[in-house]
Amino acid sequence: MRKPLVAGNWKMNGSRTMIAGLLDGLTAGLTEGCDKTEIAVFPPSIYLSQVKDALDGSSVAWGVQNVCTQEGEAGAYTGETAVAMAADFGCAYVLVGHSERRALYAESDAVVAAKFALIAGQNLVPVLCVGETLEERERGETMSVVSRQLGAVLDGVDAALLNDFVIAYEPVWAIGTGKTATPQQAQDVHAEIRGLLEKRCPDMAARTRILYGGSVKASNAVDILGQLDVDGALVGGASLKAEEFLAICRAAG
Ligand code: G3H
Repeated sequence: MRKPLVAGNWKMNGSRTMIAGLLDGLTAGLTEGCDKTEIAVFPPSIYLSQVKDALDGSSVAWGVQNVCTQEGEAGAYTGETAVAMAADFGCAYVLVGHSERRALYAESDAVVAAKFALIAGQNLVPVLCVGETLEERERGETMSVVSRQLGAVLDGVDAALLNDFVIAYEPVWAIGTGKTATPQQAQDVHAEIRGLLEKRCPDMAARTRILYGGSVKASNAVDILGQLDVDGALVGGASLKAEEFLAICRAAG
């Protein structure tokens, strides 16, 4: 069966002091109740070393929020992080296609597919984010948007690289707004995503984890994570508070 994954996307938040406190809270609170859930955190890349030092040997995995589209370990790409560098720092996962990258940094479906291939090619697990805007939902386009975003990866990435990935369904209107999708809205889209996987890569459908993201908090986690096709959560704001994040991890198990 699918082991739930709860991942904290810290986005561009934190300082060395704040992160030290957060990591202390996380490692101290990994008590009973968290063992049925896989946990990962995505700090800003500049804090990767601090996170690795604190979490090495713990059950919490870590990853980066973005990587460069260029292949290889080095090159004249000012400001970028190579996927090989993420691997060098022990990352297990890499986020790709987050709606903030798509909207604020103009990442197209093709760019997302290229990054996905590089991540999987380094044996890291891509966490592919998909989701519709409010306008798209109101126009009844939720599934056409999500299937286009997922299809770009399934079409554009060599089949050999599609054997281990995670999907995060994040309705854009629910991100950082406090407005969560209802458990039924989440389940409906997750079931359709699994249906798409059945058609396109049947061996992946039952084992691929589909996370929900968008204003997940301790207070709504049980209901959302209790849905049949919701296999965990990608948590933004609430992942910056150790106790709240751990409560979500417990709710997933
Ligand atoms: O990656 C995480 C999502 O964007 C959700 O963010 O929990 O702050 O709404 P949020």
